[in-house]
Amino acid sequence: MALRDILIHPDPRLKKVADPVADVSTELRRLADDMLETMYDAPGIGLAAPQVGIPSRLLVMDCVKEEGAPPRPMVLINPEITWSSEALNTYEEGCLSIPEQYGDVERPAEVQVTWTDLDGERQEEQFSGLWATCVQHEIDHLNGKLFIDYLKPLRRQMITRKMMKLKRERARA
Ligand code: NI
Repeated sequence: MALRDILIHPDPRLKKVADPVADVSTELRRLADDMLETMYDAPGIGLAAPQVGIPSRLLVMDCVKEEGAPPRPMVLINPEITWSSEALNTYEEGCLSIPEQYGDVERPAEVQVTWTDLDGERQEEQFSGLWATCVQHEIDHLNGKLFIDYLKPLRRQMITRKMMKLKRERARA
């Protein structure tokens, strides 16, 4: 396994709609392993393939946050939201592609999601709480959407300017 570089906003690769995964190849398994390792290392609770520069509909997540609870690494291939609750929930979201910036985003509190797992089997699960927010945030990445797209334009522009400055500083270092 290997850590992958996480793209930082703004980057045109973060704005593209990702392509469906055609089959669960050895290469795809390696990518999923690398993404989980990269996510835990960051640390973060979710990561989508476009964030490591791969335009495929694949995401990983683990939203277990209870101290001492076993981890639950999940790999979702070609995920689709098949139902969203009318009830909404607001979380202060962040993103590994937008380091140290946070903003309140309102989303459906519960979602039903189907996806293909690493064995090529179709899975279905209803997510709530942080899991629901995370899976929606990560599926947004597959559609070229970032959490800052839900914020007011001025706030979004301010964050984007900060990220451009961060990227310039990193390029000089
Ligand atoms: Ni994100």
